[in-house]
Amino acid sequence: MGKTASETLAVIGLGKLGLGTAACLADRGYRVIGVDNNPAVVAAVNAGRSPLYEPGLEELMGRVRGKLTATGDYRQAIDNSGVVFIFVGTPSDPDGRFSTKDIEAVTREIAPHLKNREDFPVIVLRSTVLPGVCDDVIRPLLEKLSGRRCGVDFGLCHNPETLALGSVIHDFLNPDVVIIGESDARSGEAVSGIYQKVCAGNPPLVRTSLANAEMAKVALNVFLTLKMSFANTLAEMCEKIPGGDVDVISRVLGYHPAIGRKFLAGAIGYGGPCFPRDTRAFAAFARQTGSQAKLARAAEEVNASQAARVVRMVREKLGDLTGKTIAVLGLTYKPNTDIVLDSDSVKIAAALLGAGARLNVYDPAGMENAGKVLGRDNIRYAASAPDCLRGAELCILATPWDEFKDLKPEDFVRNMKKPVLLDCWRLLRRPEFLTRLDYLAVGLNQER
Ligand SMILES: NC(=O)c1ccc[n+]([C@@H]2O[C@H](COP(=O)([O-])OP(=O)(O)OC[C@H]3O[C@@H](n4cnc5c(N)ncnc54)[C@H](O)[C@@H]3O)[C@@H](O)[C@H]2O)c1
Repeated sequence: MGKTASETLAVIGLGKLGLGTAACLADRGYRVIGVDNNPAVVAAVNAGRSPLYEPGLEELMGRVRGKLTATGDYRQAIDNSGVVFIFVGTPSDPDGRFSTKDIEAVTREIAPHLKNREDFPVIVLRSTVLPGVCDDVIRPLLEKLSGRRCGVDFGLCHNPETLALGSVIHDFLNPDVVIIGESDARSGEAVSGIYQKVCAGNPPLVRTSLANAEMAKVALNVFLTLKMSFANTLAEMCEKIPGGDVDVISRVLGYHPAIGRKFLAGAIGYGGPCFPRDTRAFAAFARQTGSQAKLARAAEEVNASQAARVVRMVREKLGDLTGKTIAVLGLTYKPNTDIVLDSDSVKIAAALLGAGARLNVYDPAGMENAGKVLGRDNIRYAASAPDCLRGAELCILATPWDEFKDLKPEDFVRNMKKPVLLDCWRLLRRPEFLTRLDYLAVGLNQER
């Protein structure tokens, strides 16, 4: 038997976040119709395959084949769905704010299908936007192009993404917090009902205005960039104190209930598609409102200096880098993704190439994307982590993939010209590495 509109959901934008969410919703019993303007994405989804790298997604796609379908046709998706989620990208504009170009395009496609609805469809924006976009851009556009009234004939919610790439499925099903900005209570209830049905436990739901939801999401990410930049500053200072150890400092801070351990590692800079962009947008929004955003700008400044700091440490060890072979383990901006956008590991690799070094590089998932940025000159793309170490005089462990935890001291001793490890995340800080290798680490001073 076919599902009713209230049991059918539309997901517009089957990208890094939309696809995982659509698959989770289908797995929890909803019929889900995905819309994407990329025909290759539509074909992959209908074949039960994932067109992108995300742990666990390929298997989930196979399981929900038939329950999650994809199309390029908005009519088919919107006419049959009670709730429509929008997940298209909002990249940076030249002034640092988020572009609303794609969400406006999607809104124009959706609006005509609201004209003749007898029920109360709810449009839910999940993309990251700055305060005011729902009230000043999306709502007027939907009302104008549909001739219907928001809050009366249809609802509008902003339910910003708090998922992290690499753990999209887990994070969607086990959210720390669900933020729901709503045009009216009925819309908010429709969205919170979905979370109560699909999520484990009883996730905290914060229901509020559209603008507060918009602000809350950006504020969350900016706060995390402050935390990471503070931890990276601590790491740098610990390197200057005899016996200094950033792991001790962050353990102490992490015990404090007002702080917590996460995002306090003290390592290299943050990157990826969200943190740098959200911090820039926050600062731009502050300028627009006449507020100060000194902390956000400071976080950006600290972040921008991290790759050069690592290169300095390499120079202190090897001197002139011309013609020296350096191994770089890890290229993605964090583990469990293939994304290298704004990755500090790639920035470090590029700076070393610029200083005349030759590189061996290896990443479990990001080789293809890194190749597009780093090119082929003076760089060997290795087949495995041990292969990456071959002939190198220093190895930088730049991205803390779990796979690298399985490396043994022998891998370094046997393969490298000189077994020197610069461990940016102290991932291999184990006695056998400290005794058998020349072990250096970000955030550690090993003077007695
Ligand atoms: N990537 C992250 O880690 C992350 C985390 C939290 C929030 N967000 C936010 O979530 C939003 C989506 O991010 P993403 O990383 O999934 O983006 P993405 O670029 O991976 O995916 C967007 C998808 O939308 C499709 N699309 C674009 N225009 C369309 C249109 N007019 N009609 C139909 N489909 C269209 C594209 O083909 C693509 O598949 C962004 O606003 C982002 O800021 C991202």
